Amino acid sequence: MKQIAASNILGIGHYVPTKVVTNHDLAKLMTTSDEWIQQRSGIKERRFIEHSGIGASDLAVPASKMALEHAGLEAKDIDAIIFATLSPDHNFPGSGCFLGHKLGLPGVPALDVRNQCSGFLYGLSVADAWVRAGVYKHVLLVGAEVHSTGVELADRGRDVAVLFGDGAGAAVIGPATEPNTAVKALEIHADGSGAKDLWLEAPASAYSPHRLTHEMIDEGKHFPAMNGKQVFRWATEKMPEVSRAVMSEAKVTPDQIDLFVPHQANLRINQMVCAKLGIPESKTVANIEKYGNTTAATIPLGLSEAWREGRCRRGSNVLMAAFGSGYTWGAAVLTL
Ligand SMILES: CC(C)(COP(=O)(O)OP(=O)(O)OC[C@H]1O[C@@H](n2cnc3c(N)ncnc32)[C@H](O)[C@@H]1OP(=O)(O)O)[C@@H](O)C(=O)NCCC(=O)NCCS
Repeated sequence: MKQIAASNILGIGHYVPTKVVTNHDLAKLMTTSDEWIQQRSGIKERRFIEHSGIGASDLAVPASKMALEHAGLEAKDIDAIIFATLSPDHNFPGSGCFLGHKLGLPGVPALDVRNQCSGFLYGLSVADAWVRAGVYKHVLLVGAEVHSTGVELADRGRDVAVLFGDGAGAAVIGPATEPNTAVKALEIHADGSGAKDLWLEAPASAYSPHRLTHEMIDEGKHFPAMNGKQVFRWATEKMPEVSRAVMSEAKVTPDQIDLFVPHQANLRINQMVCAKLGIPESKTVANIEKYGNTTAATIPLGLSEAWREGRCRRGSNVLMAAFGSGYTWGAAVLTL
């Protein structure tokens, strides 16, 4: 195995379903309002899959093809897949296996990462290490989610249901092709003391004799539950903390960051994070208005759109940061 000096994002892509669901549409299904949702989260609309039968791996296919084209590579050039999702097509096997089959990649290893909103950064940490160690040359790193079939679109689930949307983002990670470009610093963290502040309780291997019963379904334990205030508090503390740590490690100051791609859970969280870091909102990706929280898909989706809008290019310094269920959190600085 030949060690590589640095890895980087060689290409990036995204895909969102065509079905737009506005806050007004949700207000027909539950007691909520466009005003409440926008004020609390900044979300105006989100995308939902068009019909049953579309899983996270299906959304990942067009995103992956876009990333491959951007990188000037073909599917056959992929040596490994990392698939980050909290909404896998099925409980097992992992969505990476489904994606590899759909891309025509028999024999290519596929690793699923279950780290929720931090999934893309956890996956990037593995991909970066694999590439630098010379284990795999080109790693397809995907974040894809279908939330619309997993949230409770009714009064009981309204606090969570209005926040999430479907989508996918993908990146090809490989040896850095230009001098001074690299994944320069990356940190990931977890603290399970907050595991139940944002979780999906069942089906659960911990419950015997059955992981899911009719009673559990009646109680809604198969829907995500969240302590929103706690999550908010942690996110606004941990995202700035880990962002400062990676900027210091990469030896860049906030004013040298050309583009900040924070996870999109709540516009108010990101405004507070930007203020704490001293990074202007003009340099920060904010697409929550259009897509809601797409969990593991959010960071690659945001970077892909920003790259195509000309907000970053080869040589740009990019900061990424995420916080989510677990709790898990992380950040990275890349010179693209
Ligand atoms: C979820 C969140 C927007 C809620 O905002 P909040 O200001 O904490 O609101 P509260 O939870 O105090 O709810 C206020 C009221 O609105 C109600 N409410 C909850 N969801 C609602 C909805 N969709 N529409 C209308 N009212 C709603 C609540 O029942 C509560 O009513 P009450 O005061 O009569 O009990 C906010 O806590 C948040 O963004 N947290 C972080 C979430 C997050 O980041 N999650 C993903 C992590 S990756």
